[in-house]
Amino acid sequence: MASPYPHILASDPDIHAAMAAEIHRQQDDLELIASENHASLAVIEAMGTPLTNKYAEGLPGRRYYGGCEHVDTVENLARKRARRLFEVPGHEIGVNVQPHSGAQANSAAFLALLDAGDTFLGLDLSHGGHLTHGSPVNSSGKLYRPVHYHVRPDGWLDMDEVRRLALAERPKLIVCGASAYPRTLDFAAFRSIADEVGARLMADIAHIAGLVAAGEHPSPFPHCHVVTTTTHKTLRGPRGGMILADRDLFKEINSAVFPGTQGGPLMHVIAAKAVAFREALQPAFKTYQQQVLANARAMAERLMERGLPLVSGGTDNHLMLLDLNDHALSGKDAETLLGSVGITVNKNTVPGERRSPMVTSGVRVGTPALTTRGMGLAESQQIADWIADLLDAPHDAALQARVRGGVSELCGRFPIYPELSGVHGATPAG
Ligand SMILES: Cc1ncc(COP(=O)(O)O)c(C=O)c1O
Repeated sequence: MASPYPHILASDPDIHAAMAAEIHRQQDDLELIASENHASLAVIEAMGTPLTNKYAEGLPGRRYYGGCEHVDTVENLARKRARRLFEVPGHEIGVNVQPHSGAQANSAAFLALLDAGDTFLGLDLSHGGHLTHGSPVNSSGKLYRPVHYHVRPDGWLDMDEVRRLALAERPKLIVCGASAYPRTLDFAAFRSIADEVGARLMADIAHIAGLVAAGEHPSPFPHCHVVTTTTHKTLRGPRGGMILADRDLFKEINSAVFPGTQGGPLMHVIAAKAVAFREALQPAFKTYQQQVLANARAMAERLMERGLPLVSGGTDNHLMLLDLNDHALSGKDAETLLGSVGITVNKNTVPGERRSPMVTSGVRVGTPALTTRGMGLAESQQIADWIADLLDAPHDAALQARVRGGVSELCGRFPIYPELSGVHGATPAG
C-alpha cells in the first residue's frame, strides 16, 4: 500500500519508519494518559501545510511582516471560534491563540499579571498542580514568589487553606486549575477569596478545557480574570496553548505573549486550532464529552468495586487517581506493568505520599483518548478489570499474555487513523 507520506518516505526513510512505528503504537495500545487524545485527521492535516512558512509577528491587521492577509483570516477565525466556545452571556473576553504550549501560555499570563518577586498562590505539584504553577525548577518558581495550597487527606481541595494562605500572604494572584485533580473546580469560591484579598484570579483549564467548552464542567468565566489552557488534551486540537482574558486585561496579555515571551506565531498550528474549535462547536463534541465523563465514572466504579481505592473516592471529570499507598506495587511498578501489555498510564504522586516523586504511590488514568476511538461503558469496565487483574497478580505471565491479546483485539475493533494504515511497510516509489 502506498504511504500517506510519500515525500517523507522518499527524502527521509528513517523518520518515516519512526513515524510508522508511532502510528502503530497509537493504534495497537490503549492510551489512558489523561492529558492525551487523538486529534482528527483534519486537525493533523492543517498542521502539515505551508502555513508553517509564514512569519506573522503581531496580531491580525497589525503585523510586523507583509503578506499576512491569509494568515490573518486564519487567526481571526480561530479567535472568533474560541470566543464562541468559552464566552459566557454578558461577559466579553479577548482570546490570544498564539501561545506555543500550555507552559508558554502560563508564562505569558504571569508576565502580564505579576512583577518579579510578587507572591501568588497555586496548587502544590505533588497534590495535582503543574510545574508552571510555581515549582522551583520552573521560571514561575524562580521569578516570582509562589505559596502552595494543597488537597486535604481525603483528596479534595482544601479551600479553608486557600483562604487562610490568601489572608496571611496577600498574594497578587491566585491560580486555580490542576494536572491531576479528579473533582469539579469551584471557580466562584476561588473568586470570593481573591476578592477578599484584592488578588486577581487565573484558571489554568488545560485538562478540562474540552469539558468546559461543551458545558460539561462549570465555566471559569465570569469568575476568573484570566484563563489559560492547552488545546490538545480534552479539547482534542493540535499541541498548543491559548489565553482567554477579561477585555480590560487583554492588551497586557497580548504584549506578554509577543514580544514578552514569544516571537513568530506558529500559523500552521493556529490553523489547526481553528479547525479543532470548529469541531468543538458541533453537537457531536458535547456528546463526546458526555461519553468521556460516563466512561470515567464507569471505570472508576469498577476499579473501586475491585478493591482499588481512588483519591477522593471517585471522579467528576475525565480522570481518576489510583491510590497505591497500601499496595505492594508502586506507581512506577504499575506504570511499567500496565505498559508491558499495551495499557499506557502515568505514575503520579497521591496525598499522603510515602514514596519518592520518581517512584510514587499513584497512577493517573483518563478516558479522553479511548472515548475518541468510540469506546463506551462496556470497554471502560473491561479495561478497569484488566488493570485490577494485573495489579492483583503482577507476576502472572499467562495473565499478562492474555491481557495483551485482549488489548490488541479491542484496539483492532476501534481503529484510529485507518486512512494512514499504508504508512506501514511502504517503500519509496520507483
Ligand atoms: C494544568 C496544566 N497546565 C499547563 C500544562 C503545560 O502544557 P504544555 O505541555 O502544552 O506546555 C499542563 C500539561 O500537562 C497542565 O496539565
